[in-house]
Amino acid sequence: MTAASSGLDGVVVADTAISGVDGELGRLVIAGVEVEALAGSIDFAGAAARVLSAAGMQATAEELARELGAARERAWPIAERARAAGAFDTADGMDALRGGLALVHASGDDRADAVTAIGAAPVLVAAWHRARSGEPAIEPDPRVSHAADYLRMTLGAPTTDAATRALDAYLVTVIDHGLNASTFAARVVASTASDLVSAVVAGVGALKGPLHGGAPGPVLDMLDAIGAPARAEAWLVDELAAGRRIMGMGHRIYRVRDPRAAVLERALAGLSSPRLALARAVETAAAKILRERKPDRPLAANVEFYTAVLLDAVGLPRDQFAPTFAIGRVAGWCAHVLEQRAVGKLIRPASRYVGG
Ligand code: COA
Repeated sequence: MTAASSGLDGVVVADTAISGVDGELGRLVIAGVEVEALAGSIDFAGAAARVLSAAGMQATAEELARELGAARERAWPIAERARAAGAFDTADGMDALRGGLALVHASGDDRADAVTAIGAAPVLVAAWHRARSGEPAIEPDPRVSHAADYLRMTLGAPTTDAATRALDAYLVTVIDHGLNASTFAARVVASTASDLVSAVVAGVGALKGPLHGGAPGPVLDMLDAIGAPARAEAWLVDELAAGRRIMGMGHRIYRVRDPRAAVLERALAGLSSPRLALARAVETAAAKILRERKPDRPLAANVEFYTAVLLDAVGLPRDQFAPTFAIGRVAGWCAHVLEQRAVGKLIRPASRYVGG
């Protein structure tokens, strides 16, 4: 075990048909399709249907899109209850999502609960944002797509097709990613035969951390602090000298550039982003400096780097970046819960006692 290891690195605790990651080659396959081919060719409901079907739940894209519309409508009174209960009195959208999901009733029927949880997430996050902004929440519209409805409920106006397409590409790209920390957390809860909503709440808790899903907001802060490509190198050198990490760089699994970074960069093509050129310059400078500083540890851009630029370009505020990641990943968590149910075994890793 190296100092960098969590002790579980490389230990296989599940077989999965939902997604596979090859960190050496920089490859991500989601339910049988390379991420580069999936994102942009299918919307979020279509990708959610694929990952849930890979876990044994039969649903076509059209059926799931309809069911998710109905689930968003069902979540509307829950969002109001969450607001009234004070769950949205927080600056952290992940706390608001966790608090809102806590009010979602788990029926015990995993298929129904999966649709309920996936449908509730955007309604809760958008309602939290509106409450924080002092504006009334906007009721879901089951007739529009999941991504379009989320943007509409957040921004208060119908969005452009280009923004919806880009957000769909993002939600599809992050829908699942092997046994990452939040997925593992959700699977552990499912393995105890607890309910699906509890497993999803555990996933939210794990995703919140900046080492997992909480990095894109800080990436945008970094781009703002740098301001211009010419300042990138000096700023990054100072940051490292202060003992801080470069947000959006490095990954536990990938030893090359995260394939999702390229997918999101491509998805940005249809949007006008004031920050894209700067982001590319900062990435190039960061990769060069990190290569010099850590020649033995490849540290390249991860998914969060261009997540920040894309979510900013579609009009979402930066404190909504991590919860938006959760809105995509919740489908993956649900698929893993279903897959874990079929295994029917408690996940119980060991610890090594090193006390006296
Ligand atoms: N900037 C600077 N140095 C970094 C770095 C970064 N973004 N990521 C890793 N390193 C360095 C560490 O300081 C460590 O150096 P050391 O051996 O001299 O102490 C070495 O690389 C290994 O880091 P470690 O934390 O053990 O690797 P990990 O696999 O556990 O880390 C991440 C993976 C993602 C947690 C890490 O790369 C990171 O913190 N990145 C920034 C946050 C981020 O972008 N998170 C989103 C992930 S998708």
